[in-house]
Amino acid sequence: MTRMTMLLCAFQLTWMASVEAAPLTITLPPETAAFKANDLPGYALAQQKCSTCHSADYINFQPPGMSLAQWTAEAGKMQKVYGAPISDQDVSVIGAYLAVTYGSAKASDADVQAASFPPKAQASAAPAAKVDAMALLQNNACLSCHTIEQKVVGPAYRDVAAKYASDSQALAKVTASIRQGGSGKWGAVPMPPFTQLSAEDLQAMATFILKL
Ligand code: HEC
Ligand code: HEC
Repeated sequence: MTRMTMLLCAFQLTWMASVEAAPLTITLPPETAAFKANDLPGYALAQQKCSTCHSADYINFQPPGMSLAQWTAEAGKMQKVYGAPISDQDVSVIGAYLAVTYGSAKASDADVQAASFPPKAQASAAPAAKVDAMALLQNNACLSCHTIEQKVVGPAYRDVAAKYASDSQALAKVTASIRQGGSGKWGAVPMPPFTQLSAEDLQAMATFILKL
């Protein structure tokens, strides 16, 4: 499709140049040449990182209705196969923006939110975050059923981290598990829900557990 459009342009230009000696300027149609704006952080990132090699046309010409996973894979392909200089985090943030803007996802979806707003860079924040998360686990009685290394009533947090190690949706899933409680993922014993906890506290604990 893109190649055809380009061929057509080239043809028109040659034609215009030879017949009318018109000025040789190419203006892409505005509705396809730019990324569609919205509030997700991936919008700015896509503008910066996805238009260095080709225009946003490539995104418009993908089939409609692609899921979060499909758009993230598409951005990942640019990174892995074509060497686009973007980090793994860029891939998720941009994938979420594309899936909402051009695909089937909604900005309010938990997995879109988790991908769009990853926990802040850990380098400098790590020690403080660790203390906070440990305090939260302590103060909310989590440690009466869990320890880091050993299964007690609930699974060892280190085993939880291992179970989700290769799951790109881990943070969203574990945050939801803590909030809703439940049973059946580790055995028949249920975990009570913790719906009173703030999203921030839930995420701090989930992030801490997943990094073990
Ligand atoms: C380093 C250069 C480069 C960057 C940066 C880049 N792409 Fe691509 N992209 C390519 C190449 C090469 C192709 C294949 C071109 C072709 O087939 O004509 C492509 C093709 C595509 C396609 C068409 C479908 C396909 O899989 O071939 C989509 C969609 C796409 N890119 C999206 C993106 C997104 C989203 C980003 C930003 C995360 C991005 N590109 C950044 C090089 C790049
Ligand atoms: C009354 C005991 C109990 C308390 C209190 C408790 N848990 Fe659990 N937790 C469990 C049990 C039992 C499971 C296994 C549930 C299952 O099999 O699905 C579990 C599972 C989990 C999991 C794994 C979820 C998954 O998706 O695999 C995480 C993470 C977790 N708990 C975190 C917490 C945190 C954080 C708190 C405190 C806010 C907490 N738990 C408090 C008993 C408890």
